[in-house]
Amino acid sequence: MTNYFSDALKQVDSLRSRDGYYILAFESSCDETAVSVTKGRQIVSNIISSQIEIHRRFGGVVPEIASRNHALMISGLAEEALRAAGLGIGDISAVAVTRGAGLLGALLVGVSYAKALAYARSLPLIAVNHIKGHVAANYISAPDLRPPFIALLASGGHTYILSVKSMSDMEILGQTLDDAVGEAFDKAARVLGLPYPGGPEIERAAALGSPLYPLPRAFKGDKRLDFSFSGLKTALINTVHGMNMRGETYSINDVARSFQDEAVGVLIDHTAEAVKRTGIRTVALAGGVGANTALRENLTARGARDGFEVLLPPKKLCTDNAAMIGVAAYEMIREGALPSPLSLDADPGLEIN
Ligand code: KG4
Ligand code: ZN
Repeated sequence: MTNYFSDALKQVDSLRSRDGYYILAFESSCDETAVSVTKGRQIVSNIISSQIEIHRRFGGVVPEIASRNHALMISGLAEEALRAAGLGIGDISAVAVTRGAGLLGALLVGVSYAKALAYARSLPLIAVNHIKGHVAANYISAPDLRPPFIALLASGGHTYILSVKSMSDMEILGQTLDDAVGEAFDKAARVLGLPYPGGPEIERAAALGSPLYPLPRAFKGDKRLDFSFSGLKTALINTVHGMNMRGETYSINDVARSFQDEAVGVLIDHTAEAVKRTGIRTVALAGGVGANTALRENLTARGARDGFEVLLPPKKLCTDNAAMIGVAAYEMIREGALPSPLSLDADPGLEIN
């Protein structure tokens, strides 16, 4: 063990000033088992096995089922990622893995597999924060991007406006005080009888609807850049239940559009305010909700109006993937991060700082 870690320290040290080496990265924090090979900020292979179909019948992710499927898939996907990259394990210089935040059992599959592989192959292990991984997706689609920039991170578990200075220094300018925005999309869909995951379903319905039902904004007039999505969710539930009780007919599309306009609107308004306050004029979008077309288009339009640049990673890099974890690890190595010891544990509640 001692030898393993001192070797890992030396290996990472020699990688710091290099670019052209390969990282094998694992992501298993929720319902996607993902393995990727990255080289610097480039994707060499990016394999994602989604469990959405498996969890859909339960209306959401069932943690135990997620873990079991990760365990079934991970080894075959690692081979597939190497094969797709045209490489063997001997070509890999470091292993990266999501250590949190996420579902404990799901994370443990990736962490245990990555640790075993790193030990067996004498490779350094880099533990990555999933939230920071989402931010790092922008380095793939914008390889010249350098901090400082603002990140709007909107996922199923987190909602942050961040001032990004480096991988180890991301200042929280605003965050949700209750539900994450993706969670609100998922709950809104459920109320409307749409399947899991709700985000893409709400997006599809909203595209056909009109914003006929104005929904409230939390902290209106408040100077904070924080969010609250539980009030929005409750208002939506009350609106729908009220109409059901009164026997009124309504279009799900109109309700979905009203919800999406408000959810996306508050993200954009607070991000534009963060730009104004910090003077940082580059905004990077990140996280699963970043795949939402209304958010992408309206944020870009606000940037054009207010004079800030908006970076939009492709939708496949907004939702969970392992390429973002590999690139995050590469950036961390460059910044001087240390490899993890083999005592590394999963951390379901891992925060940004
Ligand atoms: O980042 P992600 O893949 O996993 C987490 O780290 O949570 O985000 C998943 C979330 C889910 O809540 C899903 O409904 C939402 O992202 N999502 C969307 C869209 N695609 C995924 N929300 C709105 N519009 C979309 N097109
Ligand atoms: Zn995620």
